Amino acid sequence: MNRVETAMVTSPPRRWLQHLYEVPVLLRFGGRLIPGTRALEIGCGSGYGSQLILDRFGAATVDAVDLDPAMIHRAGRRLARYGDRVRLVQGSATDLRSALGADDESYGAVFDFGIVHHIPDWRAAIAEVARVLTPGGRFYFEEVTAHALARPTYQRLFDHPTDDRFTADQFLDELVRHGLEVLGSLTRIQGDYLLGVAAKPIPAGGDR
Ligand SMILES: C[S@@+](CC[C@H](N)C(=O)[O-])C[C@H]1O[C@@H](n2cnc3c(N)ncnc32)[C@H](O)[C@@H]1O
Repeated sequence: MNRVETAMVTSPPRRWLQHLYEVPVLLRFGGRLIPGTRALEIGCGSGYGSQLILDRFGAATVDAVDLDPAMIHRAGRRLARYGDRVRLVQGSATDLRSALGADDESYGAVFDFGIVHHIPDWRAAIAEVARVLTPGGRFYFEEVTAHALARPTYQRLFDHPTDDRFTADQFLDELVRHGLEVLGSLTRIQGDYLLGVAAKPIPAGGDR
């Protein structure tokens, strides 16, 4: 992330947007987590998302990964009061086994607060989300689409990969291609932003 985007994502207005708008929408689509759920946040930034995952979604623990060590450091300061309920690791969402030792089906919920559009191989990140979710587990996502990234303001102010970005439909199709079922989604500002929740189906005869 460049300096403008870093300043934006660590600002009070970004936190208000998450707290007042994104969380209620995601709760409407996916509900709170079953007590005891282990959650994962990919691209945790300064850690406010992990705080919401614990306090508003009801996760028992959060493992959070970010590529940028400076962000992990900031998140560590914000989340220190949660003690061993939070594990912060520097690494990539495209290889959660290397970053966190994440086995298949090891998290009951995965959260993406605006990070997958930063990843050149975004499909690899979706594949990892699908791999680590338990059957019945949920993927809560908030994303920025190709439509937004093509806007002159975005291109002037921020620094994102430019090849092979996704529309809302392409993102949702990729979830389905990995066996996830979209429980609900919406787009905002002429398709610039996508919010939604998808679930990994429980095989016939299994429990959530
Ligand atoms: C727009 S910020 C969002 C941060 C935070 N989720 C929020 O909503 O404030 C994108 C974050 O994704 C991180 N990131 C980019 N590529 C990543 C990757 N491959 N794996 C993990 N984190 C990544 C960046 O370092 C940055 O902290």
